[in-house]
Amino acid sequence: MTLADATFRKIFELHSDAIIVIDGDGVVVECNPAACKRRKIPRTAVRTIRDAWGASGDELLARMIAHDDTSGTIRTTFIFSPGDTIPAELRIVRITDPAEEPRLFLVTVKDISEQRKIELDLLRFSEVTLHTVNPIQITDANGKIIYVNPAYERISGYSKEELIGRNPNLLKSGMHSREFWEKIWTRILSGEEWVGQLQNRRKDGSVFHSEVVISPILDESATVIGFVGAHRDITEQKQLEKQLVRSQKMETFGTLAAGIAHEVGNPLTSISSIVQVIQRTTKDEFAREKLELVKNQINRITKIIRELVDFSRPSAYEIKKTDVNNVMRDALNIVQYGKKVQHITFKVQLYDDLPHIAVVSDQLVQVFLNILMNAVDACGTGQHAIGVTSRLCDKSIEIVIRDDGRGIEKEDMEKIFDPFFTTKEVGKGTGLGLWVSLGIVKNFGGDIQVSSEVGLGTKFTISLPLKGSLHE
Ligand SMILES: Nc1ncnc2c1ncn2[C@@H]1O[C@H](COP(=O)(O)OP(=O)(O)O)[C@@H](O)[C@H]1O
Ligand SMILES: [Mg+2]
Repeated sequence: MTLADATFRKIFELHSDAIIVIDGDGVVVECNPAACKRRKIPRTAVRTIRDAWGASGDELLARMIAHDDTSGTIRTTFIFSPGDTIPAELRIVRITDPAEEPRLFLVTVKDISEQRKIELDLLRFSEVTLHTVNPIQITDANGKIIYVNPAYERISGYSKEELIGRNPNLLKSGMHSREFWEKIWTRILSGEEWVGQLQNRRKDGSVFHSEVVISPILDESATVIGFVGAHRDITEQKQLEKQLVRSQKMETFGTLAAGIAHEVGNPLTSISSIVQVIQRTTKDEFAREKLELVKNQINRITKIIRELVDFSRPSAYEIKKTDVNNVMRDALNIVQYGKKVQHITFKVQLYDDLPHIAVVSDQLVQVFLNILMNAVDACGTGQHAIGVTSRLCDKSIEIVIRDDGRGIEKEDMEKIFDPFFTTKEVGKGTGLGLWVSLGIVKNFGGDIQVSSEVGLGTKFTISLPLKGSLHE
């Protein structure tokens, strides 16, 4: 045996793959220890491939006979013995010339359990990323995107093709400072995870919010070779937060308003009475004229304050089972009295048998008054009509107040319930009427709807639940 022969033999003996050389009938010509070790039989006992590999050996032989000349690789579950099964890659190579006899084949069995495990992990990973709602992106060490999942495409509005090879700063909204990004980079480049919230921009320009975990991918030597970014879409949550802040602001505003109303109301009353006293006693025409102006301004402030007070202490009122029709009649009595409405016809149709509901009637009067007064204001001069109806619905009482006045501009529709929104001239409107009214009705568990057509008129529908949010 030459040195080279000896070396090859050694390699053959030491190889971790099972290697067998067989002839066309399955008789083993050569076989290395790895080939017989699994069945725990000595080399001398191995005569055929069946001795070495049992049923799997038979199967292999059958295949080889079927495909006489083909050499190739087969992936199979290889059974060394019952209970010793491995995923394996079988390689069959014919080592003699086709014409040569006996035909000899080299068969190697490579244990690919480890490889299979990695493949399965990858498969599972890809299944998860494909179907998760969480947007996931993978970048290389330079920050270039090498993978995005469908959820990422959906949230960003970009397709995979548009994203791969690009830097994720493509989605930058410009809302975060340079220092912010630098901090993230320093952290993840040092091999640590970063968790935080990002505001990004979609392809169409709109903004989305996500909570992100960016983890560096490390190789065996702990070098950063890339990054995984897993997002959670929190756009909706952000919107809710914003709404909450707004409603909290309203609440704070209410408390503040109550305070102001109280602090301003008292001194205002004394100013008002002093003005009246001077006006009555002075002979100075100029002073009287000016005092009249002062009085007007005081009235204006008083009006605003009254509305603020009404709104800010609803709990002081009494909750009672109330006939809504009576409340409406009270309101109509107040409105119909006065010069301002002489040109307006009131068409009132109240449904007789309304069940009584638990409300604070003083507050409800105020709601009806506010809406009726608005209707009167909208009518201006000339002949007009205001219609008032009440009816019983399935679970609520509906009151409709309709006018044929000037109507509401489209762009004002969403603002009319805002505090201090008014289109009336200074001194005429406070812009609090509808805001206060909606607050009251909502408090009863009801709602106010509006529809309007500029030049034709406006319809306010107040619905009050039969079983409201108040209890007697
Ligand atoms: N029936 C109506 N017709 C036309 N516009 C209306 C009507 N009701 C309310 N509006 C509009 O809504 C605004 C806000 O109303 P409101 O809150 O009562 O405040 P104010 O009456 O003090 O202006 C009004 O200034 C007006 O522009
Ligand atoms: Mg008003």
